Amino acid sequence: MMMKRGILFSQANNFFPRKFANIVKFSTTNNTNTKAVATNIIQGGEQINITWSDGVCSDYHARWLFENCPSIYEKQSGQKISRDSPSFILKGGYDTDDKTNNKQKLTIEKANILDDGDKIEIKWPWDHTDLTIEEKSCNNKSIFESLNLKKYSYSNDVLEYQNKHFDPLDCALKSTDSVPTISYDEVMESDEGVFYWTNHLNKCGLCLVTGMPTIPGTIQTVASRICPVIETLYGTTFDVRVEKKAINIAYTSEALEPHMDLAYYESPPGIQMLHCLDFASSIVGGESTFIDTFVLANVFKTRYPDAFEAFCSIPATFQKSHVEREHPAQMFYQRPHISTNHNGDVNAVFWSPPFEGPLKIKSEDVDKYYDAYDKFKYLILHDEEFQKRWKIQFRLKPGEMISFNQRRMLHGRNGWADSENGGGRHLQGTYLNIDDYLNRYRYLKYKYDNGTLGLENIVRAGNSSFS
Ligand SMILES: [Fe+2]
Repeated sequence: MMMKRGILFSQANNFFPRKFANIVKFSTTNNTNTKAVATNIIQGGEQINITWSDGVCSDYHARWLFENCPSIYEKQSGQKISRDSPSFILKGGYDTDDKTNNKQKLTIEKANILDDGDKIEIKWPWDHTDLTIEEKSCNNKSIFESLNLKKYSYSNDVLEYQNKHFDPLDCALKSTDSVPTISYDEVMESDEGVFYWTNHLNKCGLCLVTGMPTIPGTIQTVASRICPVIETLYGTTFDVRVEKKAINIAYTSEALEPHMDLAYYESPPGIQMLHCLDFASSIVGGESTFIDTFVLANVFKTRYPDAFEAFCSIPATFQKSHVEREHPAQMFYQRPHISTNHNGDVNAVFWSPPFEGPLKIKSEDVDKYYDAYDKFKYLILHDEEFQKRWKIQFRLKPGEMISFNQRRMLHGRNGWADSENGGGRHLQGTYLNIDDYLNRYRYLKYKYDNGTLGLENIVRAGNSSFS
């Protein structure tokens, strides 16, 4: 089994986008040899340019350095200590009568390279003896480790590299690719196994767990290896099987078009797992289907730019309005189907036709919305070229559990003819919170993949984060 995992993991490493390999020197991965070799104060002291030992140069604003001075992070908790603005310190108080908002600009007085380039000292234009007790955290100098300062460089080329070094389009599974797999034993026996599991989830959006006991409730034990399962309107676990009085179409043998669950929540669950407890070989149909929304939204953007714009700005209504159930539901949420970040990159898609409510939008937007809606739906359901290339489809076997990032991967299933006793296909499901999953993944990556701690450990999870 270890060999199998190794093969899969090496496949995952091949996802590295080759087009950015030539600027790998901007990588934020560990480089303990980072040293500063020269500094140049520019823009009248409002910025500094630092040349590093590998020849790379980085610019920093004085205000950025002031706000990120290591001394203002409390040592025990790592939390940032609140303090007044540089303008306040320079003026000795806020001038509330200043109608021009003409704030005094912070400038760097001097920069020194210390410890053979391992550290940089920035001198501020005030005398620390003038500071009040509350301002003591703001000394008249800030000392940075070169390693950390370079790690958090925000030069354009660094931002471009970081924006692309995990491009979900490079990692998306095609319909002809094998679904990444990990065994039940691996994820139960070690945290390293959980790392491989979450690493697949992070890169491809889904991972199959094999060799699980077909015992109800096992899913909760396995899912908890990542983080605690969450309780929703459907409980902590839910059973997907044919029921006589179904409260959800999922509890019938009807086909389910690709969708995300609980889109009417402010924060829909992140990871969904479906453990196959029973799937009679006599059943024809019932295959699981998946579509990567990063691919979907980008194809949509390229092919129909106006419709894409409409889907990014006009809010759809998602709802669960059903009170004749054990847990009465009156849940509503309005948001556009697609969300983008400050670079215009797609960072979330919300698509759940069974849980759409009445549109409440401007009259002039109605036609634009439905035109975009038809195009998006056509792509998901009927565009042959897209389906052939990107629709993932497979049949679960008893003892297998599909885990997937349901903020990224739309899921569905083919319908099947119901057997006389209403049984024959039984999946048990559960959800994890997206933040707790990402938290666990980032730490495991640090621990088992020579990773780094901190913001640069970027993950694209389809959860609206701008990173
Ligand atoms: Fe679903």
